[in-house]
Amino acid sequence: MSITNLFGKKSGAHQWQGVINEYRKWLPVTEQTPVITLREGGTPLVHAEYFSKLLGNEVWLKVEGVNPTGSFKDRGMTMAISKAAEDGAKAVICASTGNTSASAAAYATKAGMKPVVLVPQGKIAMGKLAQAIAHGAVLLQVKGNFDDCLTLAKELSENYPVSLVNSVNPFRIEGQKTAAFEVVDMLKTAPDIHVMPVGNAGNITAYWKGYQEYKAAGMVRNLPMMWGFQAAGAAPIVKNKIVKNPETIATAIRIGNPASWDQAVAAQVGSKGLIDSVTDKEILSAYRLVAAKEGVFIEPSSAAGLAGLIKKKEQRKLPKGQVIVVTVTGNGLKDVQWVLNSAGKPIVIPVDLKRAAKVIGLK
Ligand code: F0G
Repeated sequence: MSITNLFGKKSGAHQWQGVINEYRKWLPVTEQTPVITLREGGTPLVHAEYFSKLLGNEVWLKVEGVNPTGSFKDRGMTMAISKAAEDGAKAVICASTGNTSASAAAYATKAGMKPVVLVPQGKIAMGKLAQAIAHGAVLLQVKGNFDDCLTLAKELSENYPVSLVNSVNPFRIEGQKTAAFEVVDMLKTAPDIHVMPVGNAGNITAYWKGYQEYKAAGMVRNLPMMWGFQAAGAAPIVKNKIVKNPETIATAIRIGNPASWDQAVAAQVGSKGLIDSVTDKEILSAYRLVAAKEGVFIEPSSAAGLAGLIKKKEQRKLPKGQVIVVTVTGNGLKDVQWVLNSAGKPIVIPVDLKRAAKVIGLK
């Protein structure tokens, strides 16, 4: 589809249309649905040479941090906000560990709706907080954790005229499943294993739905095993028990009672996959490695999948020679303190060629 510029001239360039228009026939939209899009999706699938060698597998990164608001949440949000607009909603609400609120704020603003976001006080990354503020959200910092925020958001949506856009909203899952379509469209097959972090468990639910739908329609022959990784201090699915006070440095997945718990287990069982946990130390180590070796800067929570693969390799539980896709869910620029905290002293120099060359080690 060509682009028409403001002066009515057609440009020859192709621009990705956003997930609704690119995958329209797979989504519950009609001609009446107003498409609220920031051209999300169409994200790079990057071959990871370092991790492929390290893990003895063909590893690909699905880099979701390049979405318009910097995380995979935009895929579901374009659907949730478009459907809310179709319903005539004037305000939307969500609970969030940061990325959903950033995305909801941007898409609601684009649609001319009022975004209301509830986040756990002091437990979300600054970049995400800034996004909600920049997009004009009514930002409530709740003295509780994500699970408390979600309970409150649900109650508000049940009792007041405001639509809930958390992933308990089925349109969110519909939009997010398009990431599985993109993987298959790119690889011309489903991977053997698809790995990702698990927090509220919407994403693993969505990918599994996407892969299954593509298989049912004959778009692909195989299905991947779904491997999800929670943070050790916030691993209710692994422990099969609600975690009352979840704790992890990976604030995006600091969740003790995931909304899509049953669906995540269904994905695990149905795909003969697994859901396991990784420690904060393992997460941070993978987080540093992927930036330093692959040139892909992600946020700490997004590294849980890679950390999980390294753990499985160390446990000798990782098969070899498989095609593995790892979804890295959010952009590193949202949460830079983990880099800066461990950075050495800055090198300051005068405007002096010789000094600069000496410090760099050039001869
Ligand atoms: N990675 C990032 C960067 C996230 O922000 C989230 C969830 C996940 C992984 C986990 O995905 O919840 O579908 O299992 N963030 C939500 C939020 C909870 O509010 O932004 P999930």
